[in-house]
Amino acid sequence: MEIFNEIKPLRAFLTAQKKLGRSIGLVPTMGALHHGHLELIRSSRKENDLTVCSIYVNPTQFNNANDLEKYPRTLATDTALLTEAGCDVIFAPANTEMYASPSQLHFDMGHLDKILEGEFRPGHFSGVALVVSKLFNIVAPTRAYFGQKDFQQYKVITHLVNELMFDIELKSVPIVREASGLAMSSRNQRLNHEETGYATVFYRSLLLAKDLLNKGESIIPVREKVKQLCESFPAVRLEYFEWVDTVNLKPAENVSSQTILLIAGYVGEVRLIDNLIVE
Ligand code: PAF
Repeated sequence: MEIFNEIKPLRAFLTAQKKLGRSIGLVPTMGALHHGHLELIRSSRKENDLTVCSIYVNPTQFNNANDLEKYPRTLATDTALLTEAGCDVIFAPANTEMYASPSQLHFDMGHLDKILEGEFRPGHFSGVALVVSKLFNIVAPTRAYFGQKDFQQYKVITHLVNELMFDIELKSVPIVREASGLAMSSRNQRLNHEETGYATVFYRSLLLAKDLLNKGESIIPVREKVKQLCESFPAVRLEYFEWVDTVNLKPAENVSSQTILLIAGYVGEVRLIDNLIVE
């Protein structure tokens, strides 16, 4: 496996690979890799000749300095996992490489980046769009892989690719869960044993809501039940629970696979998100 910290030699390497006609899959990550990420690597390996995994904790997408500081950084373990998973290239740049000068560029995606995560993490998606644009320009992959856990992020990146005409095929890979149902996330590493147990409440809330909606309950009492379930744990603070259509992320009205339940909240100091398609 090749490891690059700088853009220039990575570009030279990839240009040579492209000249040989090789397709390239990009898996953008912030490191602290788990089985969810490895699933992205597996998908990319199946569909491309070469897989590049970027590991970069992007400061411009954090609106909370404490969250940025506490974000787990485990490059040595990540490298071992990626070697074992058969990844071909790691790109792990420093901040000075990705932001040689402070960026003045901001993205505004209207409704899409003002709701849900966008409402609670102002500026987050602008930072995501910025760093993903940089990564797309540096790697120029054939395909790029993202997890369905970050559903809204995938919508934002789809919008970005369409608007800026990136010639890249986007792929969304299903959520990987622990046996407890907890969605895998790098942030789970920050939960203690007790909190890891509490954190399953988000998935249980989604399952409860899906069941109630399928039984014909309307969203208002369902939302109340989800709130009560989350509030039954003192360490859990629900931030939002919404039911929207998967195309425009507008409030959903009828049960269909074109609708999705999204939830976010804190367990102790750690912010988690999860979602479930309603069908
Ligand atoms: O999903 C993530 O880990 C990040 O938001 C991404 C896409 C790597 C951009 O920093």
